[in-house]
Amino acid sequence: MTTAPTLASNDPCWCGSGRRYKRCHRIADLDPARAAAEQASREQAERLAAAYVRPGRQSPRREVPAHIVRPDYALDPHGRPRHRDTGRPKDAETIALMRRACRAAAEVLQEVGAAVRPGVTTDELDRIAHEGCIARGGYPSPLGYGGSAAPFPKSLCTSVNEVICHGIPDSTVLKDGDIVNCDVTIYLDGVHGDTNATFLVGEVDDASRRLVDVTRECLDVGIAAVKPGGRIRDIGRAIQTHAEDRGYGVIRAFVGHGVGRSFHSDPQVFHYDNPSARGEILPGMTFTIEPMISIGDWHHEMWDDGWTAVTADRSRTAQFEHTLLVTDTGAEVLTVV
Ligand code: MF3
Ligand code: CO
Ligand code: CO
Repeated sequence: MTTAPTLASNDPCWCGSGRRYKRCHRIADLDPARAAAEQASREQAERLAAAYVRPGRQSPRREVPAHIVRPDYALDPHGRPRHRDTGRPKDAETIALMRRACRAAAEVLQEVGAAVRPGVTTDELDRIAHEGCIARGGYPSPLGYGGSAAPFPKSLCTSVNEVICHGIPDSTVLKDGDIVNCDVTIYLDGVHGDTNATFLVGEVDDASRRLVDVTRECLDVGIAAVKPGGRIRDIGRAIQTHAEDRGYGVIRAFVGHGVGRSFHSDPQVFHYDNPSARGEILPGMTFTIEPMISIGDWHHEMWDDGWTAVTADRSRTAQFEHTLLVTDTGAEVLTVV
């Protein structure tokens, strides 16, 4: 039984809250079922908010000193590249530059990874990546890179839990049990080096740890499938078999890519067996392999920011990426310290 609703709307509420009756208990008095349903939906929203990633607040844009050489797109208001490199084998000089850029990217990724712990914000990881690139004389390639959306506003991609890739660093605080992918690309002496890894935040449950392990294996089997004279398509086939045999999904919407003087060029390196995958693997090519693997299925959705991709089923997802050089016998991983 509730108190008979004899109070006027603007009277003080009977419960002693000091608020007006209409702002306090009136709905509960008039319609207890509706009040209970509203309360349940508030609780559900709170549970979802705690379980899933939401956009936080972005810090002001970080500056890059004037002496650092920018990639062409960073000078364009829309972040569009003026030139697009071919995916053809690189000359010896470019390969030498790639080795240095890729080592620098791997070092920066290591610094970022060392800072991952419960309580750190993704913005702090961005600061470390930004300063790490500049300290090595390079430009943080994501900053100002455009696509279909507004230019990427930060220097690192941070993708937490169900975020597949291209998460934007912000005030989000990493908590015990999260997983976070950090994707570093540096533009150094005219070429890009691109690498990422998924890190555990504190104590992580078995299912997520296993996801991260299998995703690392997927990158390894993809690298092992790189054979001069073989096909780009073989890489995706090897990765898909490894993932699906273990019950995981391969995200379809994002691919590995040629990399060098351009951030992204041909070939497109699918991570599943795509019959439309084009091209022969030739010595001297440089491209990335960067499988995104999910506990659930492979469909994705985009946030309104135009960058952040999440699994449609909100299952957790992990990623690892290396930049490779095709040699006469296989692949050399360039993004190593
Ligand atoms: N580093 C990502 C890749 O692996 C690309 C990031 S583009 C950005 O291809 F604009 F989101 F930074
Ligand atoms: Co890449
Ligand atoms: Co990357």
